[in-house]
Amino acid sequence: MQELSQRTSQFTDSVIRRMTRVSMKYDAINLSQGFPDFDPPAEITDRLAEVAHTGPHQYAITWGAPNFRAALAAKQSPRMGLDIDPETQIVVTCGSTEAMMCSVMTVTNPGDRIVIFSPFYENYGADTILCGAEPTYVELHAPTFTFDEAELEAACAIPGTKALILCNPSNPCGHVFSRAELETIAKMAEKYDLWVITDEVYEHIVYAPHEHVYFASLPGMEQRTLSCSSLSKTYSMTGWRLGYVIAPADVIDRARKVHDFLTVGAAAPLMEAAVAGLTLPQSYYDELTALYTHKRDLFCNGLRDLGFDFIEPREPTTSWPTSLAWAMRTTTTAPSTCAERWAWARCPAAASSTHPRTALCVSTSPSPTRCSRRPSTVSTPGARRWRDRKPPVTHR
Ligand SMILES: Cc1ncc(COP(=O)(O)O)c(C=O)c1O
Repeated sequence: MQELSQRTSQFTDSVIRRMTRVSMKYDAINLSQGFPDFDPPAEITDRLAEVAHTGPHQYAITWGAPNFRAALAAKQSPRMGLDIDPETQIVVTCGSTEAMMCSVMTVTNPGDRIVIFSPFYENYGADTILCGAEPTYVELHAPTFTFDEAELEAACAIPGTKALILCNPSNPCGHVFSRAELETIAKMAEKYDLWVITDEVYEHIVYAPHEHVYFASLPGMEQRTLSCSSLSKTYSMTGWRLGYVIAPADVIDRARKVHDFLTVGAAAPLMEAAVAGLTLPQSYYDELTALYTHKRDLFCNGLRDLGFDFIEPREPTTSWPTSLAWAMRTTTTAPSTCAERWAWARCPAAASSTHPRTALCVSTSPSPTRCSRRPSTVSTPGARRWRDRKPPVTHR
């Protein structure tokens, strides 16, 4: 038999998603993968029930249903400070995962180099390898996870560098890039003529006083930015696989071809139902932030009680639990009384890490029913909106 492709031997399956399977096997609380323990807003699920009977059930236009693109453009244009044309500047994808892959394929040729901030969301490594490109990593230095301008410039200046991947707010370290940092990146993009591919799936999960600044909104950056994001985190619908790329029309024209042959299109009935989410008022996003702020506080208090030494997600960081997991450094042994309430697993990276005692709490934001020592006193209006939702059903 001939050998299988070399490209698939250069990376493993996703460690994040593997940890979900491990935590299911041991009935652990799952902190490894970024999905919430509550359902999407009722506006969306109610609409889905209607759509089940009315359709659409057949293929949508390959680059996305017109009403979905129109609603997305209406939502994102004022936020991004752009005048997004839904007819020419959007391709709807199967999650940000496909949006990123589609963007890397649209921009790079085999052998091109891509600058990636590290630590990085693991998909970018596989995206790069699958496209035959080469990564150049630029460190985000703990504990603030900022980058050194000289290091960034050295990476951008390497011949053959074509693009930069910017995950903002960042997974896994949770760094929210400041406007000044983004301006530095923009300066490099301009100077070295780079495409910037953003992953902004956590755009609506940012703690005050920090604010998400869309890279494409910076002067001169719209033309060289492929803005990727999705509905997964914002509307608690990671299983729906709805994402998108927003970029200039000539870029989207190419990206649509890639998308067409990768997946044909995102799920038509789910796009139809998700329009109900895209048209929710600003109060929805305010409540979402309030909810995650509450969960952050609850979780950090729990970690502190357990004796973890971790980087407080109060600096420019997001509240997404994976950030918290990464931010945990060393730990004393888990108190046995708490061990029954908290699920533990050895971090797979721990063996080779410089922190051999690192343990990963395979846990999502602590569920009130799991930790009786610190009962949930959900008090914000935002939290109330989600409080009574049932836990999601997950499948192995
Ligand atoms: C930074 C980042 N990008 C993309 C994704 C996947 O997003 P989607 O569900 O839209 O494919 C995740 C999921 O955890 C993520 O953390």
